[in-house]
Formats: sequence, C-alpha cells, structure tokens
Amino acid sequence: MQVVLLGPPGVGKGTQGRRLASDRGWALISTGDILRDAIAKGSPLGMEARKLMDQGMLVPDPVMIGLVRERTLEPDAREGFVLDGFPRTVPQADALDAILQDRGRPLDVVVALTAPDGELVRRLSARWECPVCRRVYNALSAPSRDGRHCDDHPETELRQRVDDTAETVRRRLEVYREQTAPLADHYRTQGRLREVNGTGPQDHVYGALMAAVGTNGH
Ligand code: AP5
Ligand code: MG
Repeated sequence: MQVVLLGPPGVGKGTQGRRLASDRGWALISTGDILRDAIAKGSPLGMEARKLMDQGMLVPDPVMIGLVRERTLEPDAREGFVLDGFPRTVPQADALDAILQDRGRPLDVVVALTAPDGELVRRLSARWECPVCRRVYNALSAPSRDGRHCDDHPETELRQRVDDTAETVRRRLEVYREQTAPLADHYRTQGRLREVNGTGPQDHVYGALMAAVGTNGH
C-alpha cells in the first residue's frame, strides 16, 4: 500500500509511520529525515535546506518533488511506502498524484493525525532524537532505556533537533496552518482522507491508525 501521513509538527507522524512501515515491510519515507541526513553529510541538498529548516520554513516544492519522485522508485518502496512529511503543499499533493498516476498505482489512503497545539508544543520541547537512525524519544512520555543514548545505538547520545526551540516550533505551527492544513480539505473533498486522533498512549494511536489503513493491506 501507498500511504500518506499528514499532520502538524509533533503529532507523531515519525513515531507511528516508523512502526507501520516496519510492521508491514514498507519503506518509511520521511522527507524531514532525508533533509536532516543531507545536512549532516553537508551535501548540496543539505546546504540548500539548512537555513530554511532552522527557521521552520518549507524547502521549495520543486526540490521536494524531485526528491520524492526518486525515493519512491527505490527497491525498498516496491511493496509499499509510508510518506511522512510529504506532501506539505497543494502543489506537492498534485505532483504526487501525477507521479503515481504515471506509474499506474495511485495512493491508497491519506491519514491525518490530529492533536491540540498545546500537546504538540509540550511533546516537541521534550523530544530527543538519535542522530544515526533518527528514532525519536520523549523525555516525558517515551524515554530511551537509559534516558541519554539510543536503545538501538547504545554508543550514540540523543540530541534535540535545532528546529525544536520554542520560537521555531511556533513558526512551524504557523507554516503548517497556512500551507499544509489546507491539504486535509483537499483530500477530504476527494473522499480520500481518514482522520485519526493522535492523542493518548502510542499503542492506542497505532491501533486507530491500523484501522484507518485497513488491516488486510497489501
Ligand atoms: P519534519 O521532519 O517533517 O517535521 P514536522 O512535520 O515538523 O514533524 P515532526 O518531525 O516535528 O513531528 P512528527 O509528527 O514526526 O512527530 P514525532 O513522531 O517526532 O520536517 C522538518 C522540516 O523539514 C520542515 O520544517 C521543512 O523545513 C522541511 N521539510 C520536510 N518535508 C518537507 C516538504 N515536503 N516540503 C517542504 N519542506 C519540507 O513525535 C513528536 C514527539 O512526541 C516525540 O518526542 C515522540 O516521542 C512524542 N510522541 C509521539 N506520539 C506520542 C503520543 N501518542 N503521546 C505522547 N507523546 C508522543
Ligand atoms: Mg517527524
């Protein structure tokens, strides 16, 4: 299946997307993680994206569309993929439809995770990330085993994301409201949107997500 996870910063796209993709044997395609890896490597993509990301602004559509066009062709995405963080604008959504239409395999479902702003801000201020595998933890709700290192990379110290400062989180929420939230209506009018409450224990959210995606999914 080809699934899009939509939702504001901190709602759990990465957390839930990682679990869904790994359970089903699909690729997790997180555009934010791809950009952060590019920045860490100092590649031309990373150099272009760094300043915008640090300010909570979006990377231009043509860059992101080209990146996803290529990434969805990689062998691990053949069985299916979960898109986390893409599309984020209406032009990105239209481009994604066109790309998948050309391949004769349209999107199966768009799931919008929801949570109130106060909860998002609380989560992001306590988020810690593994710089190697990008797994996320939360100091309050989901700490790593020793609270400092990644469970899967015990030598690696967890870090906070540079865009998780209070000011940048505010900006990211604004950018989400202006540029990405309209996508929910876009998909809703087309009858392709399923909404899932992103609050409560992670296992409950995951159960609701699986129900929204359909348990028999191939
Ligand atoms: P991106 O990396 O996509 O960031 P985002 O959309 O702001 O989302 P986050 O990664 O912050 O949150 P999440 O929903 O993944 O939540 P998580 O699972 O970590 O994008 C970053 C930047 O890259 C953008 O600002 C932009 O510059 C650029 N970019 C990326 N894609 C782009 C595109 N398509 N076009 C243009 N620019 C693009 O969870 C958050 C925290 O909550 C964690 O600590 C987690 O442990 C915790 N948590 C999760 N679930 C629960 C729960 N149920 N209860 C309590 N805590 C929970
Ligand atoms: Mg994420």
